Amino acid sequence: MSVRRLAEASVQPASFAFNKAFTAQAKTWIKKYPKGREQSAVIPLLMLAQEQDGWVTKAAIEHVADMLDMPYIRALEVATFYTQFQLKPVGTRAHIQVCGTTPCMLRGSEELMDVCRSKIHHDQFHTNEAGTLSWEEVECLGACVNAPMVMIFKDTYEDLTPERLAEIIDLFEAGKGEQVKTGPQTGREFSSPLTGFTALKDEKSVLKTTRDKEAKAASKAARAAATEATVPPSNAAAPKTDAIETSPAVKSPSKVKAAPAAEKAASVAAPKAAAKPSLEDKNRPAGIARPTAVDDLKLISGVGPKIEGTLHELGIFTFAQVAAWKKAEREWVDGYLNFKGRIERDDWVKQAKALAKGGVAEYIRVFGKKPV
Ligand code: FES
Repeated sequence: MSVRRLAEASVQPASFAFNKAFTAQAKTWIKKYPKGREQSAVIPLLMLAQEQDGWVTKAAIEHVADMLDMPYIRALEVATFYTQFQLKPVGTRAHIQVCGTTPCMLRGSEELMDVCRSKIHHDQFHTNEAGTLSWEEVECLGACVNAPMVMIFKDTYEDLTPERLAEIIDLFEAGKGEQVKTGPQTGREFSSPLTGFTALKDEKSVLKTTRDKEAKAASKAARAAATEATVPPSNAAAPKTDAIETSPAVKSPSKVKAAPAAEKAASVAAPKAAAKPSLEDKNRPAGIARPTAVDDLKLISGVGPKIEGTLHELGIFTFAQVAAWKKAEREWVDGYLNFKGRIERDDWVKQAKALAKGGVAEYIRVFGKKPV
């Protein structure tokens, strides 16, 4: 447990008051407790103060104590005991709490902290230059089965790799934190086994939820309707370059005309994905067949394992290919990414040019840091 003290006086504001919305919430919390027991609302009120200002100031602690008619020292004891209360200013866009307890440590939390050190600040509890990001190591946050993990504000991000955490940090830094899927980042559902079920494998046991039943019915209807639908020859969606093997994920959906019943059923089973650009589009960057030596595209900040897989499916395997992309081509590739705009924001072309020219050494020379 770290030593927890209030921030130095120079950063403490002179006063604190809840705004209108938070005042209403604070009153609601206080009313939940019996008369004479209102002090029990101290934790939710301190949380509200933190939500309003981003951290818990001395003035806020005293204000909450006054509201609950309790001695300052009692409210101070609570605020300095629980680590969820931030006693110093933290990043305005994200404060990343990296779990460093044994299960997460064994699964790579140290590498996650290295990402925070390189992208935010060498030391925890310090903000980056812009004041938008900060990080700290914390004890177990209760998601050990999906280790390693971090918590940002009230959400957890689990099954992390350093590359995925770097992407998440970039999104929060860009003010797009709400776009990041919470929970497991590997596609696993909640805390189910990574390699699939090992028990309760029969349908009766597994398909208990309404959602599962609906998805199963929808999929059955879709299959039945699709049997009657017109399906073009399998080479109808041939990509620009013959050598490229097109995955199901990038095949043109317009070539298969599904029956209305199948469309309806499919819409029940899965949310609609945003339309991807046509593989026949003139702005599609030229792809190549997979070469013997493939560049590690993950060295480009903003490219993780998933995006690298997508690029490979599009025939992009080398830094030189990325370095040569023109604006229209970048926009075309962007259409295949879940989070738009990262190619420009992270300047993939500049990064790829450096890596193509002289590898990591040239990257360090150009950017003053190692690729994450
Ligand atoms: S050890 Fe990391 S969440 Fe429990």
